This record gives sequence, C-alpha cells and structure tokens, in this order.
Amino acid sequence: MTGLLQRRPKCTDQQPALSQLLLEWYDRHHRDLPWRISPSMAKAGHTPDPYHIWLSEVMLQQTTVQAVKPYFAKFLALWPRVTDLAAADSEDVMKAWAGLGYYARARNLKKCAEVVARDHGGHFPDTEEGLKALPGIGDYTAAAIAAIAFNRHAAVLDGNIERVVSRLYAVETPLPTAKPHLRSLTGLITPTDRPGDFAQAVMDLGSSICTPKRPVCSLCPLNAHCLAFRDHNPETFPRKAAKKAKPVRVGAAFVAVDATPAVYLQKRGETGLLGGMTEVPGTEWTSRIDGETSVSAQPFAADWQVQGVVTHVFTHFELRLTVYRADVSKRGMAGNGWWEPVETLKEQALPTVMKKVIAQAMPDAFKQSVNLRGTS
Ligand code: ADE
Repeated sequence: MTGLLQRRPKCTDQQPALSQLLLEWYDRHHRDLPWRISPSMAKAGHTPDPYHIWLSEVMLQQTTVQAVKPYFAKFLALWPRVTDLAAADSEDVMKAWAGLGYYARARNLKKCAEVVARDHGGHFPDTEEGLKALPGIGDYTAAAIAAIAFNRHAAVLDGNIERVVSRLYAVETPLPTAKPHLRSLTGLITPTDRPGDFAQAVMDLGSSICTPKRPVCSLCPLNAHCLAFRDHNPETFPRKAAKKAKPVRVGAAFVAVDATPAVYLQKRGETGLLGGMTEVPGTEWTSRIDGETSVSAQPFAADWQVQGVVTHVFTHFELRLTVYRADVSKRGMAGNGWWEPVETLKEQALPTVMKKVIAQAMPDAFKQSVNLRGTS
C-alpha cells in the first residue's frame, strides 16, 4: 500500500488539472445519448429528468448503451412519468423488459416506481442516502443518479471508471478487492463543479479511448497524468483475480407446437431466477450429474424429437438445455399454461434463454412474428 501511495500522482496538486482536462474533452467529444443533457444544453439552463437518469442507469447495469437505447425509448413512450410506471400493469412492464436480461431489475424497477410515487410524491430523493433506500438502487446507481441528475459530489464507479482509474494510478490490487480503493481515488478526482458530467466523461473516455484492449492513449486528455501510460502497460489494468469456471446446470425444455401454429407457454413462479417470466415447460435445472435431460421428463405424451442443445450463461452458472419439439394436432394439455400464436410470441415476456430454446425448435418463429408485424 505504501509503495502504491508513493507512486500515485498527488491528487491535491493534480485534481483541478485532471478534472478540468477531462471536462474540456467531454465538452467537445461527449456522446449524445437520449437520457443525457449535453453540456451546451446544461449551459442553456436545462436540467436532467431524474426519472430518465434512473431508468437509463437501471437499464445500463450489465447491458450496453446500444442495447438499452430502444428499450429506453419504449419505456418512455409507454410510461412518460414515474407515476405512469408505478400505475402500470406488472405483466406489461415484464413484457416491455423482455430481452434486456437480469429480470430482477425489472421487478425492482416497478417496485421502485411505486415507492417514489407513493412515498415521495413522484419525485426521486436527491441524495445518495435517500436513493439507496429505494428498491433496486445500490451504491453505483445511487451515486450515478445523485451526480448526474442532482449534481451531487458522488464517487461514481462502474466498470469503465474502474478501468480508467486503475490505469491512472496503476493500482496493483486485483478486482474486486480493489473496489473500495478505486472508489476513494474516484472521489478524490471528482470535482465539486459538474460532478455528473465528470462521471459521464470518464464513462465516455472508457468506452472510446481507454478501452479494455488497445487503448488509444495518444488521444487521451489524461495521458500526462496516467501511470499506466508512463509505464507502457495500460492493457494490464485493472488487475483481476483469476476467474473460477462457472458451474454447469442441465435440463430439458419442451416446445409443443399445434397446427395454428401456436406454442404452449406457461408462467414461472414469481420468485427466484427469471421470476414471473414466461417459459415453455421443462425440467428442473440441476447441477446433479444424473440431472434429467431425456424425453422421459416430457410434460405430456407426444412424439418428442430432440432439436439440439441450447447453452445460456447466467451470472452464476452456465445452463445447457436439451430442446425437444412435438407437433400436436389437439390442444389438450394439462396445467395452467396457454397456447400463444407464433406471430405474437415477440410480445411475450420471454427471457433470452427461452427465445433461444424456441428458436432452436422453430428457427423461423421470431423472424415470422417480426415480418408479420411489418417491422425490420
Ligand atoms: N453506463 C452506465 N451509465 C452510463 C451513462 N450515464 N452514460 C453512458 N454509459 C453509461
């Protein structure tokens, strides 16, 4: 630690220069993002809408900017204010979220909107502490909203910022152990003026210049301050602890198709992984070596044919599902599911893994529904 501190540029001397350089770069090179107030708009007196900032930050957890943009637009079109989202049908919210992944975020999004509408008169709290008390808002999201929406001095630390800061200070401690240290360094270089723009500037720098591979240090406004640049080894930061292989779970999924054509779907239980989402019938997903993937696990008797194996990587395990399909002439089916016409499958709250399963059994299922609806 002592060595590390000795090698660190002196933050007190460098703080104005470093944040100023970055903000000047941001003024010229910031990305135009639909939830963002650009520096010129801010100068003209516009302020960010906390609902937009919150919605975008929740969506951006574990998801890329490009993937989030159409979802952000859809949510605002359906629910222009947080109070509209609070009053929305949960099922509709899950459907609108389908495809973004990490579905606990959507459940918390709805709960959070309800709390803001009910307990805060439709206004988000404007402090990190107040924000952290809301469902689904952790350290990162609270800091990001406080800084970006309310111009609070908060240390915002996401993956991009971890990379930039670990390079600036050549932090040798591997992630995730280094996080608290990186957060305090981030706090030290965050200016009291424009802390939200500063956080967004570091994010933009991390996505365009200070990239994981082949960073373009020659164009970086901070290269004169960067210890990793000085030492010619930026790509080696952030240091990372060796990754453990993810455990594997197996199971079987059964796609029943009738003559319409329609697919038999059912709803998952409200709690747990993918809670409240839609699925085709299947077995338990198990890590047991004798886990059932054979046709004997069929939900009802039919001419089930293997279509292949679909793999999907969740945060804590990798899932391998053997996919079966049966073409059934009659709709007789026990259980509390329903037959969904293929052309409306896209409107269902199907998580990505289930879309993969159905696409494995019916390669044209999603293409067909898209074409029928006249979209690209
Ligand atoms: N990733 C997470 N939050 C972001 C933001 N506000 N702007 C750009 N990328 C982000």
